[in-house]
Parts: sequence; C-alpha cells; structure tokens
Amino acid sequence: MFFKNKNISIKNEIVLKELDMNNIPKHIAIIMDGNGRWAKKRNLPRSFGHKAGVETIREIVKACSNIGVKYLTLYAFSTENWKRPADEVSTLMNLLVEYLRGELEELNRNNVIINYIGDISALPDLCQKELVNSNIKTKNNTGLTLNLALNYGGRDEIIKAVKNIYIDMLKNNIDIEKIDEKLISNYLYTKNIPDPDLLIRTSGEIRLSNFLLWQIAYTELYFTDIYWPDFKPYHLYKAIIDYQKRDRRFGTVK
Ligand code: IPE
Ligand code: IPE
Ligand code: MG
Repeated sequence: MFFKNKNISIKNEIVLKELDMNNIPKHIAIIMDGNGRWAKKRNLPRSFGHKAGVETIREIVKACSNIGVKYLTLYAFSTENWKRPADEVSTLMNLLVEYLRGELEELNRNNVIINYIGDISALPDLCQKELVNSNIKTKNNTGLTLNLALNYGGRDEIIKAVKNIYIDMLKNNIDIEKIDEKLISNYLYTKNIPDPDLLIRTSGEIRLSNFLLWQIAYTELYFTDIYWPDFKPYHLYKAIIDYQKRDRRFGTVK
C-alpha cells in the first residue's frame, strides 16, 4: 500500500511540473459519469459505484483548490435522473447528505465555498437543509467555489429564466431592448459565476446530457474513457494540460 501511494504521488509530481500555473482554468465543470459501470465491472451493486464516486469528489475538490481553480461545478443529479429506480435516487440523496456532513469542516478549513445550482426545492428536506446550512457556513470563504448541480437541467434553467424575464417585463422592470446575453446570463442559476473554461466528462460518453447548455458556448471540451470512481487528480492535471495546449479563438483570427 505504501509503495502504491508513493508511486501515485511521484506520478502526480511529474505531471504537476507540466502544469502552467499561470494558465489554470478559472472554472472547471465536470459531468461525473460512470459510477454504475464501474460497479458493474466489479460485480457490485450500482450504489457501491456511487460511494466510490464520492471519494473521487473529495480528491478532485482538494486538487482543484490546491492548484487555484476558482470555480468547480459538479453535475451530481440531473432533472432526468429522477427516472432512475427510487432506491438509487434515495442512495444518491443520502450520499449527498453524508458528504456535506462529513466534509463541511474540512472544506471550511480549506477556504471552500459550498454553493449549488438547480431546483433544490424538489430534493428531500434533509438535503435542502444541509445544502443551505453548508452554504451559510462557508459563504464568507474566499477560495474555491464548489458548485453542486442538483436537480439541474440546462433546459429547465432556460425555461425558468424565460418565465422570470417575462414576469419582470410585465412589472415594467425590463424593456425588450435590454434583453441581451448579459441579461439572460443574469437570470440563470450561474448568474454570478463566469462561464466554464473547461468541461470534463468521464466514462466515455460523448454528450452533454443537458448540462450548462447556455454557459458552454465557448468552453473547451474534454472527454475521457475513465469511469468517475477511477478519475484521480493525476487525470485532472492531464485534462488541464490538454486544455492549456488549446488555442481559444472565440471566433476571431490571430
Ligand atoms: C454518474 O454515474 C452518477 C450520476 C448520474 C448521479 P452513473 O450512475 O450515470 O453511471 P453509469 O453511467 O450508469 O455507469
Ligand atoms: C449525466 O449523466 C448526469 C450526471 C452526471 C449527474 P447520466 O448518466 O444521467 O447521463 P446519460 O443518461 O448517460 O445521458
Ligand atoms: Mg451515466
């Protein structure tokens, strides 16, 4: 075990040296996928995959915080994930509560702000309570913002924005001429957060599954076959190194 850990830390050190610390993405978004297949490969119930996935969250949050990422948005539960069997949904909700209870102190010590996006009013009361409590306890921190996407859907977010813009128009709070990209962004869950620089999806699926549809217009995309429970800081650094080689043109010529 000792030697295994030592090897991992040497590997991390080597890859960390390749990171350009002056070009760390400010905002990384991750579609944490593959927990179920990770478990299936081991003949274990899917819940074991989700538990192993929480361990990855702990490590990736710490790694992001250490290298100076400002925002980390994790897709934890989509508006479509309610279609899963009830016992899987409840496992995921329980893991969320356990994670927040278990990590709050450590995250606070590491100066992390716990935030959430999505319609959390549909989550079990206990989840809502822990989320709000974690947010209140950490909101004055100044380090990484950990943004948990829960009951989040990009389309749902846009529908809510359209409805709220309409309401504010009826109240004469908005003139139609004022509707521009900035205004729409301000009606989204992510209103105070810059768009992601890098989006990572694990598990080999090459799709967005309704994640941050508006916000990723110019985000760099990175897909890896690794299942989320196997995704380690080493893989995160590799993804960032890949990102650092990209030429972000935003439609212009150089
Ligand atoms: C991601 O892993 C976790 C959530 C969607 C909550 P999955 O549960 O989707 O794992 P696979 O895709 O079935 O392997
Ligand atoms: C996306 O993964 C949602 C989360 C990671 C929370 P899914 O596993 O739900 O996506 P699909 O069904 O494969 O597109
Ligand atoms: Mg999946």
